[in-house]
Amino acid sequence: MPNAYISGTGGYVPPRVVTNDDLIQQYGVDTTHEWIHRRTGINERRFADAGVGSAELGEKAARRALEAAGLEPHELDMILFASLSPDYCFPGSGVIMQERLGLCEGPKARFVPAMDIRNQCSGFLYGLGTATSMVQSGACKHVLLVGGETHSAALDLSTRGRQVASLFGDGAGAVVVSATDEDRGIRGWWLGADGRHVEVLCQKVWDIKQRPFIPLDEHGVGQVQPEAMWAYMEGKKVFRHAVERMCEAVLTACTAQGITGADIDLWCFHQANMRINQYVAETLGIPEDKLVHNIDRYGNTTAATIPLLLDEAARDGRLQRGMKVAMVAFGSGFTWGSAICDW
Ligand code: UT7
Repeated sequence: MPNAYISGTGGYVPPRVVTNDDLIQQYGVDTTHEWIHRRTGINERRFADAGVGSAELGEKAARRALEAAGLEPHELDMILFASLSPDYCFPGSGVIMQERLGLCEGPKARFVPAMDIRNQCSGFLYGLGTATSMVQSGACKHVLLVGGETHSAALDLSTRGRQVASLFGDGAGAVVVSATDEDRGIRGWWLGADGRHVEVLCQKVWDIKQRPFIPLDEHGVGQVQPEAMWAYMEGKKVFRHAVERMCEAVLTACTAQGITGADIDLWCFHQANMRINQYVAETLGIPEDKLVHNIDRYGNTTAATIPLLLDEAARDGRLQRGMKVAMVAFGSGFTWGSAICDW
């Protein structure tokens, strides 16, 4: 059985910086920089312009990951796209990505499978588990895994929506998972879910139980109420479960590998709230200098947080060949996961 390793990373965030003060000045949100920074660690985030979707952000990250891996798009055997803000309800952004990468035309056209992963903040780790299995089974040699989000289009950027809107930002991260005979790569992944908490963090703009799925007015025009249009979150409950599940996911991963936290050289935690990550790190005795963060600059980019962290650390030298890397995430569903990789 081949090992599966991350042969290339890439990241992309749109150029428009939106600071906490911009939320007040440009959007009229009743908040303060101090409130957001103290409770979450966020200073600013990036918003994509109208007309830009998650597949476009993802393509830029993917091209960088492919370049880092020394691969051309037509060498891919599969595309996985993790997002809670896909370009359309259907089809998924994976096929849009395939087309954007030029895989559908010309002499090198390859109609490889393209699949969307719908596991929100845990989407990257669900995708990593899938990509690793595809490679280890021999079905694929190179799998492109992208996490891409365009949250800004679906945030209630008013005082009413401030609890959720101040947290999220746009961006994309990508990795290529490749087969190798070398003794390195993804050693294990552990995923979990608890469907009792579906309603605690959700966005129900698409509710197929209704007839029709969006109520119509007398002119046949769809009417979406604010409660359905924007994400709903019971913040404190999510916070509490995130700390518990992330600690558990780390312990599960380390136990399965027969290692302790001290054996990990670099920790990539999902970036939902700096305070969540500080609690987890304190509980497990993880030293600050082994953690990487980007929430201060990007906010919560959901499926993109971990691949963006990996890419930044790989490019600035904090992540070196031979290091043992742990990744942990928790999000809507609830879903969670962890992975350990020898880089
Ligand atoms: O990726 C996984 C998904 N998300 C998470 O992991 C997020 C988990 N939860 C959290 O990070 C925190 O719950 C938040 C940062 C979202 C909120 O912090 P909190 O300490 O739980 O605050 P809260 O929602 O209980 O709100 C406290 C007060 C409220 O005012 P009152 O009712 O006490 O007068 C809110 O209206 O803070 C108010 N508030 C704000 N004030 C200024 C909520 N959002 C804001 C804001 N600016 N942006």
